[in-house]
Amino acid sequence: MERTFVLIKPGAVARGLVGAVLARFETRGFRIRAMKYLQVTRELAEQHYEEHREKDFFGELVSSITSGPVAAFVLEGPEAIAVVRKMMGSTNPMAAEPGTIRGDFGLEIVANVVHGSDSPASAEREIKLYFSESEII
Ligand code: RTP
Ligand code: MG
Repeated sequence: MERTFVLIKPGAVARGLVGAVLARFETRGFRIRAMKYLQVTRELAEQHYEEHREKDFFGELVSSITSGPVAAFVLEGPEAIAVVRKMMGSTNPMAAEPGTIRGDFGLEIVANVVHGSDSPASAEREIKLYFSESEII
């Protein structure tokens, strides 16, 4: 079994999509090991997206993820990292296949509904950023 970090972004939370997005993962068979509704601070956002610090969209990315509350999860299942990424679809929602979360729920690249860890190292790092050991059940 593998664990991954999933975050439903502020735009999707504001649109009332938490239940619909989470249902995709639950229906697929992932187990929720942790869940949290929180306001991401600027400091947390900069740590989360530190790999993108030099990109021209970094400022927009940080403002977007701090623009309202998010829903964060640790999900567990076989090959969770790759399977969740596949279910999310392409980063650019215009290119995301119908049937994927990004392909079904949005059109904006920065507010592209959902974040999911892209490797075991990212998953470990991101889970630790958002959850303490005792919050993972
Ligand atoms: P994520 O980290 O959110 O799961 O998305 P990802 O791996 O598919 O994409 P990544 O390259 O890590 O980019 C992180 C987030 O930055 C925003 N983005 N904007 N304006 C742009 O060209 C651009 N490119 C990326 C997206 O919100 C993307 O999810
Ligand atoms: Mg990424």
